[in-house]
Parts: sequence; C-alpha cells; structure tokens
Amino acid sequence: MVPQSFIQSLTLVASLLSSTVWASTFVVHEKRDSAPNGFIHLGSAPDDKMLNMRINLAMGNQAGLEAALEQASSPTSPTFREWLTKEQVESFAAPTSETVEAVTEWLTSFNITSTPATPAGDWVKFTIPVKVANQLLNTEYSIFNHTQSGQTSVRTLQYSIPSDLQPHVKAVHPTTSFNGPLRGRAPITAVSAARFAPSLEERATVDCNATITPACLQTLYGIPTQMVSSSTKSKIGVAGYTPQNADSEDLSTFLKEFRPDLPSTLNFITELYDGATNVQDGTQAGLEANLDTQYTVGLVNGIPTVYEDIGYTVQDGPDDGYLDSINYLISQTSPPLVFSTSYGFDEESALSLSLTVAYCNAIMQLASRGVSVTFASGDGGVASSPDLQCEGTPFPPTFPTCPYATLVGATQNVPEIGAGLTAGGFSNYFPQQSWQADAVNAYIAKIGNTYAGLYNASGRAYPDVSAQGGTVEIIINGHVDYVGGTSCSSPIFSSVIALLNDELLSAGKSPLGFLNPWIYANPQAFNDITIGNNPGCGTEGFSANEGWDPVTGMGSPNYAAMRTAAGL
Ligand SMILES: *[C@@H]1O[C@H](CO)[C@@H](O)[C@H](O)[C@H]1NC(C)=O
Ligand SMILES: *[C@@H]1O[C@H](CO)[C@@H](O)[C@H](O)[C@H]1NC(C)=O
Ligand SMILES: *[C@@H]1O[C@H](CO)[C@@H](O)[C@H](O)[C@H]1NC(C)=O
Ligand SMILES: *[C@@H]1O[C@H](CO)[C@@H](O)[C@H](O)[C@H]1NC(C)=O
Repeated sequence: MVPQSFIQSLTLVASLLSSTVWASTFVVHEKRDSAPNGFIHLGSAPDDKMLNMRINLAMGNQAGLEAALEQASSPTSPTFREWLTKEQVESFAAPTSETVEAVTEWLTSFNITSTPATPAGDWVKFTIPVKVANQLLNTEYSIFNHTQSGQTSVRTLQYSIPSDLQPHVKAVHPTTSFNGPLRGRAPITAVSAARFAPSLEERATVDCNATITPACLQTLYGIPTQMVSSSTKSKIGVAGYTPQNADSEDLSTFLKEFRPDLPSTLNFITELYDGATNVQDGTQAGLEANLDTQYTVGLVNGIPTVYEDIGYTVQDGPDDGYLDSINYLISQTSPPLVFSTSYGFDEESALSLSLTVAYCNAIMQLASRGVSVTFASGDGGVASSPDLQCEGTPFPPTFPTCPYATLVGATQNVPEIGAGLTAGGFSNYFPQQSWQADAVNAYIAKIGNTYAGLYNASGRAYPDVSAQGGTVEIIINGHVDYVGGTSCSSPIFSSVIALLNDELLSAGKSPLGFLNPWIYANPQAFNDITIGNNPGCGTEGFSANEGWDPVTGMGSPNYAAMRTAAGL
C-alpha cells in the first residue's frame, strides 16, 4: 500500500509543476462536430461562471455486476429473481482504489476536492468556475442557446483528459451532451375537448373504444380491483420534472369519479429533489404529472405511490435530472420496485454516447436490486419525437434505449391496435440483446428489405411491451381532459407490475425486477397486437405483426397470464 504522505507529496509536485504536466499527455476524450440543431453558439462562457461537474468513474467490477444481473434475470437461471442487495451492488460498482487515486490526484492538482455523488462512489461531483474547467479538460466552454425554449447552457464540442486517466474516467458532465428542456411525452393536451363533455356532470357513459378510464383497463387487461393489504411491500414510483405539478385535489376528484370503490383520500407520496416544488394549485397542475399520478394511484388499489419530483437547482441542463432521478433511487434502502418515466428526448441529437452509457449503467444497478425501470417509448412514430424533421434520413432512435429499462409503446381502441404515435425501432447506442434476438430477428426477416438503411438491425430493439395510450381520461383543474401517447402507457403498464409484485411479495416470492428477459421468454403473457403502424420521417413506419414488432413490442398486459408466468 502506498503511504498517505507519499500520495500527498506526489500531489504537491503535480500542483507545483502546474497543469502543464497534465497538458502534455492530454488526449481528446470526446468530440462532436457541431451543436445539435436548435442550439446556437452565443460565445465563450465567462471565466467565473460556476459549473456543477459530475464524473462517472469506471466501476470496479462492471463485468461481475452484468453477470450477476444476467443470472438473476434469466428465467432459466437456477438463481432466477434472487436480486442483489444494495451492498452487493455497491461492492461491484465501487471504483477500484487505483481509479479513485488516479482521479483524486488529477483533481487535486487543480485544487479540486470532489465528493461522492452515489453511495458506491462511481459518480463524483464538484463545483468549479469555467476558467478551471477549461484547464482541467483542456477545452473552451461556450454558451449555447436552445432557441425554442430560450434556455442557455454551458457546453463544449470537445474536451480532453490525461491519457493515463482514460481507463478510469467513463463520462464527464456537462461537456458534449446537449438538450432542451425535458418534455412530458403527452403531446395531446386535449384530444378534442369540444367533442366530449368537459364537465363531470355531463360526462357520457363510458365507451372504452372511444375513451379509456381505469374501469376500461381493468376489464381489458383483467386487472384486479380489490384493495391490497395495508402491509403490502409493493411500492411504485413515477418521475416528475419541474415545472410539472401533480395535484392531490385533482387525484381525489379522479378517484371519486373513476374509482368510487377506493377511498378518495388515497394520495401519492411526494419526494422533492434538486429544489423541486410541487405546487398545489389546480390552475398550475400539469397534464403529464396528473396523468402519471392518476393512472398509478387510480390502478394500484392502495399500493404506496411515490411522485419523485426533480427540480432544477443542481442541474446544468435538463439532461442532469435523469441521472439524478436514478441516483436518488440507488441511494435509497427501499426504492419503489417499479419506477415509471414518461419524459424523454432523442438518442443521438441530445446525449453523448458516454453519458448515455453511464446513465444506463445506473439503471443497471437499480435493476439488479429488483427494480423494474419503465419508460414511455416516445410519441413521434419512427421519428421518435413528434416535431423531428427526418425525411430521407435514417430513423432517429428514442432516449433511453438502455437495455435495462423496459420501453412501453402505445395502443388505442378496443379491441386494441397499435397507436400510430408510438416510437419504435432500433438503437444506435446499444446492441441487440440476447433475450430479444429470436423475437426481433423473426420480425426483421419478415420485413425483408423494407427500410433497409433506415434502421440499425443490430441495435437494441424497442418497445418491449405496450399499453393503452389512445384517448385517456384524466382530471385536470377539476375537469375531465383527454390525453394520449406513450405517457399514458408507461404508468398503466407499471401499475400492472406493481400489482403483480404485491401478489408475489404476499406469497413470499421475489418481485419481478428487471423484466425484459422474462417478457421475451413469455409471449403468452401478453395480448399480441397485430394491427397498426407508426408513421414518421415521411414513411408509413413499421407495421405491427404477429409476435414482437416495433409498434407494440410483445403486446399489452394480460394480467391472468402474466400472473401465471410470474409463478403465481
Ligand atoms: C492551488 O492552490 C495553491 C495554493 O493556493 C496555488 O498556489 C496553486 O497555484 C493552485 N493551483 C492551481 C492549478 O490552481
Ligand atoms: C435565445 O434565442 C431566442 C429565440 O431566438 C431569443 O428570443 C433569445 O433572446 C435568445 N437568448 C439569448 C440569451 O440570446
Ligand atoms: C372503435 O373506434 C374506431 C374509431 O376510433 C372505429 O373505427 C372502430 O370501428 C370502433 N370499433 C368498435 C368495435 O366499435
Ligand atoms: C448500429 O448498432 C451497433 C450496435 O449497437 C453499433 O455498434 C453501430 O454503431 C450502430 N450503427 C450506427 C450507424 O449508428
């Protein structure tokens, strides 16, 4: 072991020699040719502007964690669903002392003291002025304006790190990742308020083919309706991002109207991070936040529901909130066992590969502990986002396509067909996973040369499953409103998982946890949807088909069949 005094004297020498020692061995770590469309370069960032930096350090044993997760999540494994403990995950994720020392020495030479941002210490954080960041990363930070929102951010197109640190440093943020404000995936603010009675009194009797309510979902998917035991160990979480507010009074109105069999006092638990506020004022209620809380609390029959609300304070851009939401859960002893996010953006235009992979590794850590991490797949069909221009170019994949997340596409109508807005396709960042290979390759073989060159046949395919996202009734500011999109699908699907977890835990069994290998191994547990297509980029998009397809994945929930497949 190297004596502490020796390390200190090395550090001292390094700082005396100044950053030129490091500069001589700097190598470009990441670069991009230009800022994404929609961002305008405004000029150099001022020297004294403070940056909240994060560095993702190499896990001490990432291969070990991947292997352990594979064993826990493969239905044929003898240790299926023996999820890891928090401590086990941390022992895999903790960087080696070599990594910690190398990074600490580098930062100390710039008089930077970092603190761990996760219990395992695989993320560290510190706040420094732009002037120091420019030297640390041999770069020049600039200000960019996201013209659509008018939000400015400090980013760079290229940065370097000393060559001997390359094996230790996986991602540095903020650097080359750009993104506008996070958007809820619900694009349809009022599908057509005029077409429907806007007041509760005038609400027509339910036609599930026209509008979806909790009762429609209970019938369609066979979802149980009775209250769970008050001692349930199941818990569900939904992500919310400022400035969306989830309104408790609207939830109460929703329960009275759509779940009169449940106590209307059921509420979500609010957890505020990064300076978030969840303003309780009907006029400021958010469509996305109300949808996400109403279609969890309104379906899970008393299972505790956490609204994880992420604010802006420690963020240097909306991309940080994603990292924070997962890292907050990682630090909890008992995180929700299913966590749904209905916010997103596009894969390549926004986040760098390194940051996306680092974020996915955080999801992997959570999944290893038996948490099902679910996402709305996106609402732009094969274009991923509704407003993306991509005619004549390859279909832009959605974010995130992380294989450890379960992506949920949308269906509509009863009987169900695939919803045209569903983002579905193939990642350019993550390869096809073994658990989906048979199902996905069968689809690719079926479509032959269609769209050859417009999608990446070797990429991780999505969505994995689907659920209703056609015209869904919510309450906002005391009134009925109609929303659509994969934003509806993710909380609905996640609620089904939470109910199955309740049953599994009551029976002394493990929760479903990382779902994907189990989903693809149990096609009979889902309603296969064979009609529908997801237009975008000037094409008709992919078509739904028998078996997996990039519109509806493996299909929508069939509660009874999922229950059997889960071993109940
Ligand atoms: C670090 O701090 C010392 C003492 O304040 C100073 O002499 C030195 O120049 C600083 N080094 C850097 C790289 O800023
Ligand atoms: C950013 O762009 C928007 C739209 O063009 C403009 O209104 C705004 O003033 C710009 N912000 C800055 C700081 O230049
Ligand atoms: C369901 O509604 C669609 C229009 O959204 C209509 O085309 C279809 O015929 C309806 N199906 C049934 C069974 O009523
Ligand atoms: C296609 O996916 C593979 C596997 O993830 C990846 O290595 C490759 O870079 C992707 N191709 C493009 C054009 O992005």
